[in-house]
Amino acid sequence: MQTRSRAPLHIVHPQAGSSDEALVAVQGFHVWFHKHHVLNDVSVTFLRNRINCIIGPSGSGKSTLIRSLNRINDDVDGFVCRGSVRFHDEEIYAQTTDVTRLRTRIGMVFQKPCIFPTSISANVLFGARHVRAIPAGQQLELVEEKLRAVSLWQEVQHRLDEPAISLSIGQQQRLCLARTLAVEPEVILLDEPTSSLDPVSTRAIEELLLDLKQNYTIIFVTHDILQAKRIADQLIFLCNGQVIEQGEKETLFRAAQRPETRSYLNEEYCDC
Ligand SMILES: Nc1ncnc2c1ncn2[C@@H]1O[C@H](COP(=O)(O)OP(=O)(O)OP(=O)(O)O)[C@@H](O)[C@H]1O
Ligand SMILES: [Mg+2]
Repeated sequence: MQTRSRAPLHIVHPQAGSSDEALVAVQGFHVWFHKHHVLNDVSVTFLRNRINCIIGPSGSGKSTLIRSLNRINDDVDGFVCRGSVRFHDEEIYAQTTDVTRLRTRIGMVFQKPCIFPTSISANVLFGARHVRAIPAGQQLELVEEKLRAVSLWQEVQHRLDEPAISLSIGQQQRLCLARTLAVEPEVILLDEPTSSLDPVSTRAIEELLLDLKQNYTIIFVTHDILQAKRIADQLIFLCNGQVIEQGEKETLFRAAQRPETRSYLNEEYCDC
């Protein structure tokens, strides 16, 4: 990977307890896949109860970064990392970390809906059943609560036992979000969750995230600058495996410090 030296960028790291609390803090983080150096000295903070949007060109390392936050990359052949990722001020790459528990606290929704070949209700309960016992008498209540949270209840309440695969792609993606919520995470990672959706389904997911951020911390990868403009609180601009700039959305759109950020936000072009 090509790297260039840049003048150090002043990034304000919010303090715990302030209204802008850094829930997840990445510091001096590097990733290699075999010998390919994919993330290079990444330092970034993700704020509690905010939509933290990671943007950047294809191949810049967005998925690698988001997948490092709940250690999904651990399962990828050749993955090596160095540096620090702290969640609630605890090092997630510590040897003592219970990775299964970590993934219940930091849930993930992927680019394409990941539906299990079972019913709609069983899909909602799938992950939650693995982390806690849900008495039979409470299962329908949980299914309803989570389907309501993703605005899917009205559409599917009379067909909960039907195969989930019968849903439209947009409905499937909302079902995936419901399944993630049923595990009761604190952080939701979403890697381009609307890229295969039509504009109406995309807006439905965006509206949901704007609502959900009151109770969850959202870390969202998107290619779509206009989408970032619509929903982000915080922007992280990643290019060529490095964080070029991080800050409040309004500030970056109005007055980004880096010329690379300005050209990317204005023209989706970046020569970094
Ligand atoms: N499992 C892997 N093995 C080897 N290289 C990988 C692996 N996963 C990603 N990479 C490489 O890491 C770099 C960053 O990839 P990543 O998927 O994180 O980028 P991205 O910003 O998410 O791109 P896109 O916008 O296209 O999804 C790319 O050069 C990619 O080829
Ligand atoms: Mg990606």
